[in-house]
Amino acid sequence: MRDTSLPRGDRSFTPALGKVWLTPVYDAAIALLTREHVWRDAAVRAADLKPFDKVIDVGSGTGTLLRQMMSSCPPAEYLGVEPDPDVLAIAERKCGSVSHMIQWHNGFLDTLDLGRGWQPNKIISSLVLHQVSPEQKRAILEQISALLTPGGMVLIADYMRQEPPLMRRLFRMTVQQLDGIEDTQPNADGLIEEHLQEIFEDAERLRVFPTATGAILLWRGYTKKVPDS
Ligand SMILES: C[S@@+](CC[C@H](N)C(=O)[O-])C[C@H]1O[C@@H](n2cnc3c(N)ncnc32)[C@H](O)[C@@H]1O
Repeated sequence: MRDTSLPRGDRSFTPALGKVWLTPVYDAAIALLTREHVWRDAAVRAADLKPFDKVIDVGSGTGTLLRQMMSSCPPAEYLGVEPDPDVLAIAERKCGSVSHMIQWHNGFLDTLDLGRGWQPNKIISSLVLHQVSPEQKRAILEQISALLTPGGMVLIADYMRQEPPLMRRLFRMTVQQLDGIEDTQPNADGLIEEHLQEIFEDAERLRVFPTATGAILLWRGYTKKVPDS
């Protein structure tokens, strides 16, 4: 049975490390088992942050990536979307004195009410899509596409197609033990790559990071530009 919380009405989600009681060790586990600084550094470089950027992190968790992006480009504007109030509290603590410079939304992307004039040109999400249902994977990517400015960037770092067989086996022995098979297997079979190529323009795989928990892939794409009239 999936170990879930219910922060909003009847909507459930998988906690950061699969079980609520493991949330306090999430940061240590990711650091120890995923070569975290290698893939996060690559993600921040691929985001190519500029001072005028408006950036959303979907499923921002304990805020590690937001904090790293913020120190790489402080003048950009950042918004973290996270349904779990417990990890959100950790993120706010971790971001310390710069936490007030980040907007936090305790909810889902489709419950986000953006003020007029605030439209993101970059949306990033790390280690989230492997934990949501197959329908939600597509829905989240479509919501990202709808929110972004024309030509805006989506950047996804996650467990996607698992190959070679060793990566598939490690993924099965670790992530799939914690998060279950139902939501994670479509990622291992390449569903996210298919969606990215269908929904976005110039979607491409930038890097593959073999880890002790399976392969983490970094993909980037862009929303379709408005056609010339
Ligand atoms: C494995 S953690 C990753 C956290 C962070 N992005 C990172 O890189 O460390 C997945 C996070 O996604 C959140 N989450 C789960 N379902 C979600 C959804 N439908 N929309 C947005 N966030 C979700 C969880 O609460 C959790 O904090």
